[in-house]
Amino acid sequence: MMKWSTLKIITGLVATAVVAVTAVSLSNEVVANPPVTGEIKVPQEVKQLLERACYDCHSNETNIRWYDKLPIASAIVSRDVQEGRKHFNFSTWDSLSANEQKSLLWEMYNMANAGRMPLPAYTAIHPQSKVSAADLTVLKNYLNTTIVSAINDTAKVQAAAKQRMQQVQQPQPGNLRVYYNGIQHMPDYHSWQVMSTTSRFDNGSMRIMYANAIAMEAIKRKEIHPFPDGAIIAKLVWEKLEDGEGNVRPGKFINIQYMVRDAQQFKDTDGWGYARFDGPALKPYGTATEPSKCASCHKAAATTGFVFDLPTKN
Ligand code: HEC
Ligand code: HEC
Repeated sequence: MMKWSTLKIITGLVATAVVAVTAVSLSNEVVANPPVTGEIKVPQEVKQLLERACYDCHSNETNIRWYDKLPIASAIVSRDVQEGRKHFNFSTWDSLSANEQKSLLWEMYNMANAGRMPLPAYTAIHPQSKVSAADLTVLKNYLNTTIVSAINDTAKVQAAAKQRMQQVQQPQPGNLRVYYNGIQHMPDYHSWQVMSTTSRFDNGSMRIMYANAIAMEAIKRKEIHPFPDGAIIAKLVWEKLEDGEGNVRPGKFINIQYMVRDAQQFKDTDGWGYARFDGPALKPYGTATEPSKCASCHKAAATTGFVFDLPTKN
C-alpha cells in the first residue's frame, strides 16, 4: 500500500510537470523573428493591409496568438511561416531588385484577387486577415501609380528610339524571328501608332507601346471587351538615359514584347498570344510555357481587356 504522503508527492510532481510542459509550449517561440533589416516602403494604407493580411507569414514580425501555439497548430504555423518567408519577406524587402519587387507586388495582387492568399486555412482562424474588394482596390491603385507616364516629348523620344533600333539586328522579311507559339517579330511596328510611353522610376527603363491599326481603332471605339482578333500591341523596352536637365531618352535596347489577339488560337491565355524577344539579337525569351506566366500577370488588367497601359486620353 502506497503511503498517502507518497501519493501526494507523485500527484504534485505530475501536476507540476503538466504545468511546466504547458508553459513551455506556450512560451516557446513557434517561430523566431529575426531582425527587420530593410522593410518594404509603401503608402500607409497599403502597409496596413499587408501587415494585417500577410505579415504573419511573409515577414519577421509574425504575431503568433496563443491558439497558434497549441500542439499541431504550432507545427502548421511554423511550416507556413518558413515557406512564406522563403517566397518573399517584407522585412528584408530591400534585398530584392526593383524589378523583383514590382513583379512580386503584381503577383501578390493576383494571388489575393484569386483568393489564394492569405492561405484560406489561415483566414478561417484569423478572419481579420481577409482581403476585401476594397483592399484589392487599394492595392491595385497603388500598383497603378508605379506605372508613370514620364516622357514628355514623345516625338523626340520616338525619333531617338528609331535611331537606336537601327543597331538592333533587323532580319530580312522571310527570315524573321519566330516565337514558340508562332508569333513573329514585326519590324514594321514603328509605323504603328504610339499607344503610350512609360518610364518606371524604379528600374531605370523606359518603354514605348505601339498599337496596330486594329488595336488603336478598338481603343478609340472602346471596343476592348474583348479586343478584336488581329489587334497587336508591341512594347519596346530600353535602358533609360537621363541628361542633367531631366530629359530622358532611350539607351541600350532591352527587349520587344508582343501581345497578339486571336481568341481561338490563344484561348488558353485569355485570347492573347504573348511573345518576347531579347537583346539586339532578338532572342526568343523563356520557353513555350512562358506565355502562361505573361498571361497570369496580365489578368490583373482584365477589366481593360488585359492591357495595362491604355492611352490616358481615351
Ligand atoms: C498563413 C501564412 C500566410 C499568409 C498569412 C500569407 N501567405 Fe503568402 N504564402 C504562404 C506560403 C506557405 C506560401 C508558399 C506556398 C505556396 O507556394 O503555395 C506563400 C506564397 C505566396 C506567394 C507566391 C510567391 C512566389 O514566389 O511564388 C505570394 C505572391 C503570396 N504568398 C502573397 C501573399 C499575400 C499578398 C498575402 C497577404 C494578402 C499572403 N501571401 C499571406 C503563406 C502565407
Ligand atoms: C509581373 C507582371 C507582368 C508580367 C509577368 C508580364 N507583364 Fe506585360 N505588362 C505588365 C505591366 C504592369 C505593363 C504596363 C506597362 C509597363 O509598365 O511596362 C505591361 C505591359 C505590356 C505590354 C503593353 C500593353 C499593356 O498591357 O500595357 C505588352 C505587349 C506586354 N506587357 C507583354 C508581355 C509579355 C509578352 C510578357 C511575358 C513574356 C509579359 N508582358 C509579362 C506586367 C507584366
